[in-house]
Amino acid sequence: MAAERDWRSFILEHTRLQAPPHTPELKLHLASEITPIWRMTEEELGELGLPPPFWAFAWAGGQAVARWLLDHPEAVRGARVVDVATGSGLVAIAAMTAGAQSALAADIDPVCEAAVALNAAANGVQVAFTGRDLLETPPPDCDLLIAADVCYERPLAERVMAWLEQAHGRGVRVLIGDPGRTYFPRQRLQRLAEYRVATSRELEDAEVKRTGVYAFPVAR
Ligand SMILES: C[S@@+](CC[C@H](N)C(=O)[O-])C[C@H]1O[C@@H](n2cnc3c(N)ncnc32)[C@H](O)[C@@H]1O
Repeated sequence: MAAERDWRSFILEHTRLQAPPHTPELKLHLASEITPIWRMTEEELGELGLPPPFWAFAWAGGQAVARWLLDHPEAVRGARVVDVATGSGLVAIAAMTAGAQSALAADIDPVCEAAVALNAAANGVQVAFTGRDLLETPPPDCDLLIAADVCYERPLAERVMAWLEQAHGRGVRVLIGDPGRTYFPRQRLQRLAEYRVATSRELEDAEVKRTGVYAFPVAR
């Protein structure tokens, strides 16, 4: 039933094309007023058995990694990138803007496919999408694997971090964006950068979240 809906129109109706505060060079279809879309979609999407509209926001973790990619094009140029738990597609779009060879955006929320397509088109880049749960199989063959803002729930955080560590163990470069979520295993990671990302009190506990970009330490 959910797949039959015209998610493109739904997104266009309930969002506005705007720049996330930390990546002013990118534009995304994002909720302009947070509470109404969250409430409305909770009811409407809940009836369809779909999760809340994470895709309608540029989360602090995603904004931080996107900023880092845009400022470090040498780290992404020519790379095959996978952005797992992509939401709006922000990180995948930043990777393509910074010169990646390809980007695959993955998210289990089926609405994300239309959101990523609209957002990629708004920025003039191509991003592939999969709705498959990539965490169920070994990490895909790629050069750079990125997960932003995925540690807000314990089961997901544990699953995704183990999976990312597996990829790191196989030599894939892994980047993680996190604004100090409860289940983020900070002590196991090396921080590459920290940003002060403007967010909304309607979504977060602070107007500005100190948000890090992390990698697994490389064994010497
Ligand atoms: C807080 S949002 C972060 C979105 C984006 N990375 C950002 O920073 O703006 C978390 C996202 O994780 C997705 N998600 C949850 N479990 C997932 C899974 N097993 N595989 C892929 N995505 C998943 C949700 O659907 C949601 O879009």
